[in-house]
Amino acid sequence: MAGREHARWGAQSHLGEVGKLPAPFPREIGPRALEHLQEIVESGLTANMMGRFEKAFAEALGVKHCIATPGCTPALAVLAAAFGFEPGDEIIVSPITDYGTIQGVIAEHCIPVFADTEPGTVNMSAATIEPLITDRTRAILCVHKTGIICDMDPILDLAGAHGLLVYEDACQAVFGEYKGRIAGTLAHAAGFSFDSEKTMGSDVGGCIATDDNALAERARFLGHSRGGVQEPGFGRVHEQAGYAYRMPQCTAAICLAQLEIIHEQVAQRDAMVRLLSELIGEVEGVTPLPIPDYMGVYSAWMFGMSIDLEQFACTADEFAQQLAEAGIPAAGTARYYLMPEACTFLQRWAAEGRYPYSQPPASRGYSYGTDTCPTAHTFLDSFIRWSTFCEKYRPEHCELAARIVSDVAEANRR
Ligand SMILES: Cc1ncc(COP(=O)(O)O)c(C=O)c1O
Repeated sequence: MAGREHARWGAQSHLGEVGKLPAPFPREIGPRALEHLQEIVESGLTANMMGRFEKAFAEALGVKHCIATPGCTPALAVLAAAFGFEPGDEIIVSPITDYGTIQGVIAEHCIPVFADTEPGTVNMSAATIEPLITDRTRAILCVHKTGIICDMDPILDLAGAHGLLVYEDACQAVFGEYKGRIAGTLAHAAGFSFDSEKTMGSDVGGCIATDDNALAERARFLGHSRGGVQEPGFGRVHEQAGYAYRMPQCTAAICLAQLEIIHEQVAQRDAMVRLLSELIGEVEGVTPLPIPDYMGVYSAWMFGMSIDLEQFACTADEFAQQLAEAGIPAAGTARYYLMPEACTFLQRWAAEGRYPYSQPPASRGYSYGTDTCPTAHTFLDSFIRWSTFCEKYRPEHCELAARIVSDVAEANRR
């Protein structure tokens, strides 16, 4: 359609963001990146950088398998295919997330069922998931939004009681820890993103992590080999509809280099997000996202806080705009993360009974919209975030950010 503004992505979407605080771009790249890239060129493309990255990342996570992909969207799409979901299966998923979380569910003609968030936070919980379980529920896909890990143990218990599969979208929580266990190793499998904006920003990259040997084999077969096998005397035979979602070797070179500096960067993010939360928590009427006690390392991708709209004579959008003008780059609201509202095509498909919302394979009527997850919707009305929070923050930046928040709060206080 002529004239429509396309969604932007990567470093380009951050152009023009200026302020008084550090921003992720230009990013620090691990010191050995050029060495790895040069090896690819000098080897005439024979160096197996993707394989090396897969091995190194699996070891760093402590899992048996890493399957590298060009992003988390493809990683989760391959997982949905490898799990063997059937059309019309219901997958319970966090409502506050990125479209990449649900794309694979949709590609397999499954039905995303959005569980509401637990009050006061960005994630769903066992309590919000349980009422949605039906005879068609197949899996639970947990997103650790902003880096805050879902309270996984009760979710795993609930899933166990109903025979459901659990998998994770660990995009925003790389090397974060839940009760001493690493995000992405908490359930059956996980998808990660190494897109340029993410904490382990590399390029357009991602991966699957799992301990399940059979699942890993299926994921490689469907995700890397396009569902093709070699038949002697014939050649490739495609036994299944697969994808060519291999991580490019050059991305793998950068990922490998980033892996060498990521732990230091995550430790810095953890320390700074806790300091920032403490300082901003002192401003009356402003509540940083609560950091649950079960969180070990908080690998925070973005910073977020709620404002008490009753205390201020402005909307959250106006408050955020003033923060951005006062020097916090990319401060803004985050309503677009509410998937049942943002995915207008799902609203249309469900309303029209378009496949898979036709019956069968759907077993009941579905609808999506503003009030699908009322707690999440209300929460986002007063939630402000900045996705430019990064490992470059030092204590003086946290102090400056808190001062800016405090000044804007005082200027708008009723
Ligand atoms: C929670 C979440 N899931 C999925 C994705 C998609 O990841 P990718 O861009 O690597 O496909 C993102 C990226 O923004 C994300 O934040």
